[in-house]
Amino acid sequence: PAAAGTCPVSVQAMAFDPFGDGYQQDPPEYLRWAREQEPTFFSPQLGYWVVTRFDAIKAIFRDNITFSPSIALEKITPTGPEANAVLASYGYAMNRTLVNEDEPAHMPRRRVLMEPFTPEALKAHEPMVRELTRQYVDRFINDGRADLVDQLLWEVPLTVALHFLGVPEEDMDALRRYSIAHTVNTWGRPKPEEQVAVAHAVGNFWQLAGQILAKMRLDPSGPGWMKYGIRQQVLHPEVVTDSYLHSMMMAGIVAAHETTANATANAMKLLLQHPRAWQDICEDPSLIPNAVEECLRHNGSVAAWRRLATTDVVIDGIAIPAGSKLLIVTSSANHDERHFADADLFDIRRDNASEHLTFGYGAHQCMGKNLARMEMQIFLEEFTRRLPHMRLAQQTFSYVPNTSFRGPEHLWVEWDAALNPERNTP
Ligand code: HEM
Repeated sequence: PAAAGTCPVSVQAMAFDPFGDGYQQDPPEYLRWAREQEPTFFSPQLGYWVVTRFDAIKAIFRDNITFSPSIALEKITPTGPEANAVLASYGYAMNRTLVNEDEPAHMPRRRVLMEPFTPEALKAHEPMVRELTRQYVDRFINDGRADLVDQLLWEVPLTVALHFLGVPEEDMDALRRYSIAHTVNTWGRPKPEEQVAVAHAVGNFWQLAGQILAKMRLDPSGPGWMKYGIRQQVLHPEVVTDSYLHSMMMAGIVAAHETTANATANAMKLLLQHPRAWQDICEDPSLIPNAVEECLRHNGSVAAWRRLATTDVVIDGIAIPAGSKLLIVTSSANHDERHFADADLFDIRRDNASEHLTFGYGAHQCMGKNLARMEMQIFLEEFTRRLPHMRLAQQTFSYVPNTSFRGPEHLWVEWDAALNPERNTP
């Protein structure tokens, strides 16, 4: 808090840069000072109010009228005229999906699209996730070394996501490129010269989403959430709109796969950095579900989310005017001592680990959370069983600079293939 007549923005708030290495490497550590001294502050570099404590963030999630999610997918860095012209040339018109839809439109749409996320519906995907994981592990298990991101964690969640959506397996490499471009376009700070390349990728992604949707409309029968959406459109045309379907086809591919790929990479890294915890889950796989929650709490794949204040509000004693944009740093909330005892400690037996805010909270809470959990649990079950002797290779971790989607670009692990347990149990 500033004395009268002094600049109201503190030195730390002035320096806050979510695109720099400090935030990229460890967002909650980077914001420790804020949680302790200035839990809600204005960032002049970003033009956002940054909220860092658990209680404030949960209260914001709980009230989606005062705190509108409408800006959740807005470009955090406005692009220049050249990139905008490129996007326009592709007819780019990403609009409201669910995550950025206001009431009263949001809830009826969420309700009519919920069924494919029920536990019974999700069960149907489990054998495929396990089978795919096994096939991918087979490819490198005798190598003694792998980049888990490139060799499994990107493609398996992408394949699962496409199956879940009902999309035929498309060009995986193109989708990976497009998804990263979408992340940079939405949550990053591309330099002017990068903006044009990003805009072309995002434009192509938008058109591909439109083509996939058009093909799907020819025969929307059978399993898949997007096909289900097309069928629900017939019954509820004003709830499930054309604009929704096209936007969701693109956003859904990212929501369902990039989040989960990153979450698993973060989880594997964290577990291997804590060999005792890794050994514990190898010896007792019943610990895996809570270990997954603790990984999502300690180092989740969504580091921050956004809301727009629709009226004047007070957060942590700070008056914030209507129309303000908020960056709510969920990864910081997850390390708030006021809610999680010894919050920085990684404890796979923590009893309130699942209270993390990595999936958001309230009306918009992640619909795919149980699909993501299931995938993460299966990955850990397969890795602990088949590669319990795996360890982290020496490496430096890099991240795609952005406020929200977070996971290492590569994750090198190594093991002695001669000691693979399956050599002894044919
Ligand atoms: C919403 C995170 C996986 C589909 C969200 C939100 C977050 C999030 C932070 C916004 C919550 C809010 O505003 O309160 C994650 C993380 C994942 C993950 C960390 C993986 C570890 C998935 C998967 C799907 C999915 C696999 C499957 C399609 C959705 C949908 C919404 C959503 C449809 C919008 C819900 C609404 O606004 O009503 N997710 N997600 N997510 N997520 Fe996920």
